[in-house]
Amino acid sequence: MGVISGKKITGERIFGERDSGNYLFHGDNKIVLDHLAKDYRKKIKCIYIDPPYNNKDNYHYNDNKSHEEWLAEVVIVLKKLHPLMTEDGSIWISIDDNEMPYLKVAADKVFGRENYVSTIIWQQRTSRENRSTFSNNHEYILVYANDPELFKASRNLLPLTQTVLSRYKNPDNDIRGAWQSVSANVQAGHGTASQFYTVKSPSGLLHEPPNGRCWVYNKSRMGKEIESNNIWFGKDGSGVPRIKKFLNGAKKGLTPQTLWMAEDVGTNDEAKKHFLDLFLKEGVFETPKPERLISRILNIASNEGDLVLDCYLGSGSTASTAIKMGRRFIGIEYDKKIVDFAVKRLSKVLEGEQGGISKEFKWKKGGGFDFYRILNS
Ligand SMILES: C[S@@+](CC[C@H](N)C(=O)[O-])C[C@H]1O[C@@H](n2cnc3c(N)ncnc32)[C@H](O)[C@@H]1O
Repeated sequence: MGVISGKKITGERIFGERDSGNYLFHGDNKIVLDHLAKDYRKKIKCIYIDPPYNNKDNYHYNDNKSHEEWLAEVVIVLKKLHPLMTEDGSIWISIDDNEMPYLKVAADKVFGRENYVSTIIWQQRTSRENRSTFSNNHEYILVYANDPELFKASRNLLPLTQTVLSRYKNPDNDIRGAWQSVSANVQAGHGTASQFYTVKSPSGLLHEPPNGRCWVYNKSRMGKEIESNNIWFGKDGSGVPRIKKFLNGAKKGLTPQTLWMAEDVGTNDEAKKHFLDLFLKEGVFETPKPERLISRILNIASNEGDLVLDCYLGSGSTASTAIKMGRRFIGIEYDKKIVDFAVKRLSKVLEGEQGGISKEFKWKKGGGFDFYRILNS
């Protein structure tokens, strides 16, 4: 790789398979990103970053800058990341209560306010901190797209959960398969005169639309739907009419919501436990990100083979998740002790480590990554 911005590259080493397309850099992200600027322009489908939150925690890494200094540095990094995003790419930025509003305004300027997509709220702990005025149990993830329309068209729905699937049953043994019933009436304010009429159920019981409501279909359409066995009147044929929605015709997934609960995507504690299992008594972060959280982001914003980048890699949660999900990754971390943890962790992943999301994604072993140190010359 040679010399980048006057910095010498040393310690090139390949872990696992050659030509994996995965890279782990030990160096300052501002310098490494300059190096990547040309080759990776518009190549990264999903960027996830978890910068220091400027909460004066210097235990594991230096997080003690003035507000202005901290923000200015993050903005420099965001500006370097923006050109790397694919046309339909997105960037996801973790942050907590303290700096979130300032970071949002700054990120609006870098990516364009019109390219802001959403803010995810993540329930990052389930225990209560009784020594504080408020027990803070959430963080934010700001989401921006290069082009929100292209992102919307390419982003994935979330897999149907067991809870959703269990709502589909087949009490009338319909040959079209399992279905769930949904309301057949809507708010009257949006209805026309043709939607107010009496429906006769198979048992002969008559049904008017409830107060303030009208039927979703007009009378003739409702007749056809009843004939086609698409309306459910309950087991005894006399219930309020409801529409049968078949699993076969259902959307193949769920539109992601903005509130992400601990039970679905994990907590900092879950990630810490995973980390301790991997490294026994060696030092850990107080707040690593759980693989389940990152896997949800990668599920929505990338597909197998896509390139994912995290330039505040820490213990390597994003890289580990990417490998297990068949994505390629670029990770950057400037602290020697921490990057050495990440290398050890990823080496274990290549050998078939079974924590985090391994079971969910049936991770066996394999893959590889190239490791570079970019040090001051
Ligand atoms: C909040 S931690 C990331 C934790 C990570 N998400 C995990 O799950 O382990 C932030 C990391 O960014 C690193 N960092 C801070 N400034 C950096 C810079 N300029 N270049 C590269 N890494 C940096 C810190 O050393 C720290 O490991």
